[in-house]
Amino acid sequence: MSRTNGLTLPVPAPVARAAAPAAAAPGAGSIITLDRVTKVYGANGTRVHALAGVSLSVERGEMVAIMGQSGCGKTTLLNCASGLDDVTSGSVSIAGQDIATLSDKARTTFRAHNMGFVFQTYNLLPVLSAVENVELPLVVSGVSPKEARQRAQAALERVGLRAQGEKRPAQLSGGQRQRVTIARSLVNNPEIVWADEPTGALDSRTADDIITLMETLNEDQGLTFVIVTHDAAVGARCHRIIHMVDGAIVHEERLR
Ligand SMILES: Nc1ncnc2c1ncn2[C@@H]1O[C@H](COP(=O)(O)OP(=O)(O)OP(=O)(O)O)[C@@H](O)[C@H]1O
Ligand SMILES: [Mg+2]
Repeated sequence: MSRTNGLTLPVPAPVARAAAPAAAAPGAGSIITLDRVTKVYGANGTRVHALAGVSLSVERGEMVAIMGQSGCGKTTLLNCASGLDDVTSGSVSIAGQDIATLSDKARTTFRAHNMGFVFQTYNLLPVLSAVENVELPLVVSGVSPKEARQRAQAALERVGLRAQGEKRPAQLSGGQRQRVTIARSLVNNPEIVWADEPTGALDSRTADDIITLMETLNEDQGLTFVIVTHDAAVGARCHRIIHMVDGAIVHEERLR
């Protein structure tokens, strides 16, 4: 499948070299592995220990929720695990690739090919139509306009919005906007989708639609989801809930 190819084809040479030994490592079914990750923000008197040695393993095709009080480090964990932010110590491996060993540019490429992101606020450009928003990451990375449009339309179809492609974000409901951001996160056929409070701005019925969509993508297409949420109803739909307190994982619940 092209998704599997996406993990090995577009990455630069150092990635291919580093990936080989990890494949035989324990926990080979893991797509995400964090080992004693710490994150300290600020310096000297203003230090915040946002992550206090987090170890975590996520299996391919798993759907995991991260829950905990505001300020406990959920977003920091998501940003560090996805390589959006640097860790202070410890290591993060994604699909066998130690992301700390990548240059900024290689890491950006690696993210673009292997991961999608969904945030609470939609981050859609208001002057662009839905399909233009979805195709933007492809256009920026040099895909031809024709192919980008075809792939964006296919992604909109995956989220049930094929007929809404010409509308601008302001002409869409909150749930439809979040579907557009999910389509955008899927446009590169990633294996992992990271979501930070994806239902935080939605009413409970719309939130239920969105989590159902994610569940379908997980079950039918094997996408791995890591979802930061305050919503117990969202957590209850995942395979596993990771509970955090003060930058640490304190409890895990396996639901199915
Ligand atoms: N860029 C930053 N600089 C300094 N401190 C930060 C930064 N980002 C987060 N923090 C601090 O790190 C801690 C964890 O923040 P984080 O955003 O990860 O929490 P969270 O669990 O996502 O909270 P919420 O549920 O409110 O989104 C908090 O004490 C926060 O103030
Ligand atoms: Mg947060």
